[in-house]
Amino acid sequence: MSKTYTIAVIPGDGTGPEVVREGMKVMKTAAVSGGFKLEFTEFNFGGELYLKTGETLPDSAVDEFRKFDSIFLGAIGHPDVKPGILETGILLKARFALDQYINLRPVRLYPNVETPLRDKGPEDIDFVVIRENTGGIYTGIGGATRVGTLDEIATQVMVYDRRTVDRCLRYAFELKKKRNTLNPKYAEKPITLIHKRNVLTHCGDLWYRAFEEMGARDYPGIKRDYNHVDAANMWLVKNPEWFDVAVTENLFGDIITDVGAMIQGGLGVAAGGNINPEGVSMFEPMGGSAPKYAGLNVINPMAAIGAAMMMLDTLGETKTAQAIESAMMTVMQKMKSQAAGKMGYSTTEVGDMVAALLA
Ligand code: IPM
Ligand code: MN
Repeated sequence: MSKTYTIAVIPGDGTGPEVVREGMKVMKTAAVSGGFKLEFTEFNFGGELYLKTGETLPDSAVDEFRKFDSIFLGAIGHPDVKPGILETGILLKARFALDQYINLRPVRLYPNVETPLRDKGPEDIDFVVIRENTGGIYTGIGGATRVGTLDEIATQVMVYDRRTVDRCLRYAFELKKKRNTLNPKYAEKPITLIHKRNVLTHCGDLWYRAFEEMGARDYPGIKRDYNHVDAANMWLVKNPEWFDVAVTENLFGDIITDVGAMIQGGLGVAAGGNINPEGVSMFEPMGGSAPKYAGLNVINPMAAIGAAMMMLDTLGETKTAQAIESAMMTVMQKMKSQAAGKMGYSTTEVGDMVAALLA
């Protein structure tokens, strides 16, 4: 009997449903060749539902998600909803409640994809950012008092405990160990810890000591490097070829992965995973809901297809994931651009072309 994976799908807002449709199309075709089955169940969480019912992501839905093998998310964001409500109510709620403690962001420039970096090519931009995904400032610990007065005070605290830091570092070192066996070019490069330990002397020190101790004790063959986050942003633009696996805390990871998305060709191609290595993970294209493109069939589905590819890889269907990636690369060679409306093809045509290569 062939294996069946159950996938919860949240198409979400704006262009989310359009790109999710193409991701599912590609997965379904790839599954036939790969010899496994996929069972999709759709959930209508997002801005529309919130405006109608006031509901974001109820606890009952989180409990239901626990029964799935994975979650495929389109985009959450609605122009009529105040910033913060959907982000904390849906995206961050899922990350925290399902303990998706790794945010995995491959930054790879595929051939024929345009990067804003002059003189840099696919051989220079090929690394992975591991962003800690459940701690730090994102925990929301803090508060405000005397709001609206001249004496207003607000705090939002960066919180980390050793266990949270260690499990993230473990994932990063293991990934680095694996990549070093895949390509000698990767093995020459270090694993890089990114923080701001010259100023964040408590949290930065915790991360730095944990990194040094784990590296020296368990991964003596892996080179280690450390960058302050401000400098890392400079090097990501000037010398992206220095990076292979970069590991960092939550907010810094949020910031540097947007730089990563741009240098790999933009939001049309950038995909990410919110991973609980022991539980249910959630994969998403990095682009938002892009309401101005919704319904026009012009948005690039490549990032969603890339997210689908990462999902199958994480589920253990590595061969099929590789086949999807190579089909993506073939189709990217034919596209005029990775920007919405400039691809030379429609959203559905891009999905059709990738799927056709996998049939
Ligand atoms: C991301 C996003 C989210 C984050 C927002 C939408 C809450 O920017 O996934 O990078 O800050 O983590
Ligand atoms: Mn972000």
